[in-house]
Amino acid sequence: MKKKILNGIQTAQKITNKIKKIVKKRKKNKKKVPSLAMIIVGNHPASLTYVFKKREACNIVGFFSVYWHLSKHIKETELLNLIHQLNQNTCIDGILVQLPLPININCIKIANSIDPQKDVDGFHPYNIGSLYQCNPALRACTPKGIITLLNEYKINIYGLHAVIIGSSNIVGKPMYLELLQAGCTPTLTNKLTINLKKYVQQADLIIIAIGQPNFLYGDWIKDGAIVIDVGINYIYKNKKKIIVGDVHFESASLKASYITPVPGGIGPMTVASLLQNTLQACKNYKK
Ligand code: GUN
Repeated sequence: MKKKILNGIQTAQKITNKIKKIVKKRKKNKKKVPSLAMIIVGNHPASLTYVFKKREACNIVGFFSVYWHLSKHIKETELLNLIHQLNQNTCIDGILVQLPLPININCIKIANSIDPQKDVDGFHPYNIGSLYQCNPALRACTPKGIITLLNEYKINIYGLHAVIIGSSNIVGKPMYLELLQAGCTPTLTNKLTINLKKYVQQADLIIIAIGQPNFLYGDWIKDGAIVIDVGINYIYKNKKKIIVGDVHFESASLKASYITPVPGGIGPMTVASLLQNTLQACKNYKK
């Protein structure tokens, strides 16, 4: 099977260029420049990298961005107060609280406290509920990025059996709803799924987001399946730190018709979706 690599860097770049032009035009026409507030709590190494990339992307397209790096000892009420202020602040279009949060902070309470119109992560019950109703508002960034990438390569997923491995609130669950809306028959699996291999072997489209390096090998993959790898894992190989996905790329790419690389696949698409959502929130802004 001749595989095709789905290039997330190139596709994200196309989106970024488009947004950059829109922002330039908005500035010229004295319209509001999209603005994003980002909050990170603690020093989770991957989160620091992700937020750095998100801030960098905002700078590239000309968004206004502000950033809070809070101590892991901060109280939940302090974080809720900051979010409340940002909700009230008419200069701010989007609010993002990077996950995971320290265990003393209830991440559901935090997600629910963000104004749904500023919820550029798409995690608020209003936004998840809108997707459930097939009437999407602000959509979760990683699942949205995956659909955008598949569309970019004009891959017809209508009627496909899609198997999602990993049922997180960030990827798995919103991905299920996105795929349903896109006309797939999705199956959402989790770490308790008995005989996971049986499900994966039947899949025309596999989406994996479990954070386990090289979990999925080619022998589980049906010939010609589409393989989307959301995992970003740091491992040591010959004493060198490298990034690998949840998919064992070499063996999986012998079976797949299309496959995403790590790095350079879904990661950049998540950031591109965040830019799209922030622009959308800005355009929808009502005084
Ligand atoms: N942590 C991992 N992915 C994400 C994401 O898309 N948004 C936020 N806020 N945190 C994350």
